[in-house]
Amino acid sequence: MSELLPQQQIDKLKAHAAEIEHPHEMIVDVLREIQAHHGWVPDAGVVLTAEILGITPVEVEEIATFYDKIFRQPVGKRVVHICDSICCWSTGGEEIADHLQQTLGIGFGETTADGLFTLLPTCCLGACGDAPAMMIGLTTYGPLTATKVDEILAKERAELAKTTSGKD
Ligand code: FES
Repeated sequence: MSELLPQQQIDKLKAHAAEIEHPHEMIVDVLREIQAHHGWVPDAGVVLTAEILGITPVEVEEIATFYDKIFRQPVGKRVVHICDSICCWSTGGEEIADHLQQTLGIGFGETTADGLFTLLPTCCLGACGDAPAMMIGLTTYGPLTATKVDEILAKERAELAKTTSGKD
């Protein structure tokens, strides 16, 4: 399972889990670490999380499927979460969602052919004051316009190109 998480990281997480009263509190943290390392969380990642925390895979799966920022299927390098809750919807979120779909050439739940972007709807991001809003990685953007979306996507592409060329 080392491709999911380096052994050193596994050992560190296990040691931390052994020290705390309720290791369940670490489920999301461990899943996020696996996701950061592997890109998404396969079944083996759920099993590994359970092993690290000394709980059952079912307990992990319940959290993994509830929390929409944990990806149980392969996703693009950047996941775009566009908010479809009331504040965003009433301030033009639907138009922004349409623009994202047209610009990226994908529908919700799909990934661009170059593997860079996955587009997902999400409920309130807690950024209602900046509606309409979207989140990429841990960054929330808003209030959005079509122009701003284009700028953000261009910035993300440029960052990804830099990362890729740095690895070559
Ligand atoms: S409704 Fe979209 S961020 Fe709250």
